[in-house]
Amino acid sequence: MKEEIDALLSDVKKLPPMSNVVIRIMSLVQKPDVSINEVAAEISKDPSITASIIKLSNSSYYRASKPVRTVSESLMTLGLDTVKEIIMLSASKAVLQKDLKGYQLEADEMWMHSLVVAELSGRIITLKKLPIPKDLAFTAGLLHDIGKVILTQFFPGKILNIRDELKNMETTFTEVEKKHFGYDHQEIGLKVLTAWNFPDELKEVVSCHHNPELAVKFPLLASVVHIANTITVISGIGIDIGGINQELSPFAIKQVGMTDKDIEFLFTSIPEIQKQLLDLTRG
Ligand SMILES: [Fe+2]
Ligand SMILES: [Fe+2]
Repeated sequence: MKEEIDALLSDVKKLPPMSNVVIRIMSLVQKPDVSINEVAAEISKDPSITASIIKLSNSSYYRASKPVRTVSESLMTLGLDTVKEIIMLSASKAVLQKDLKGYQLEADEMWMHSLVVAELSGRIITLKKLPIPKDLAFTAGLLHDIGKVILTQFFPGKILNIRDELKNMETTFTEVEKKHFGYDHQEIGLKVLTAWNFPDELKEVVSCHHNPELAVKFPLLASVVHIANTITVISGIGIDIGGINQELSPFAIKQVGMTDKDIEFLFTSIPEIQKQLLDLTRG
């Protein structure tokens, strides 16, 4: 099984494609002096992302103050950071909400899980005034379970066995994954993001969101996504429920400076977040 996965991951062409334009935009927007025109020009090279940006800018979730007709208008109305979020949303949607034959419910559930974790990660940055760009936390939250999506796409039958096993065993999802695949979804996610040349911050979050204390370079960001993910799973949004209850890592709580009140506040915001996000899960 491990060999099968190694073969899959060694051939980038077999992986779901991540738009080259997205990868270029991600490095472009890291530059502090980047101009809106430069970003707009790059985005315009990808017609489907351009269309998505215009559509999402006009969605009730982003609520642009006036109708957005072009990428430049979107950038001017919503600002670069929000458009960065929208770019990641459009690009990830194709990969994360893929039509899995017979597993559509699962794809939708997975997409909702990713969106809630993304939104919560951004809210934790704002709530605790952390020195991390909000859109980076949003993107990290959006992609954290990308390895699980890849495993479900390529080995749907095996994933079902794993779920069955989880129901009867006192073990964690990642342990059972490792037993069946030779890798857990964090390791797979790291390999995929490496193949896509994604930035180190995202690679680290994907590779240790269940064990943020293992983060070497970005423990704060890993802790934020860990907390967002755990709250989302405990709220019952996601497909990896089962096995031992996921627990909030004391390391992450300390890193972020979360109080019991903060955690409670985030839990109570979940229904409202889900309602808002419904708009993004359609069409
Ligand atoms: Fe995960
Ligand atoms: Fe997750």
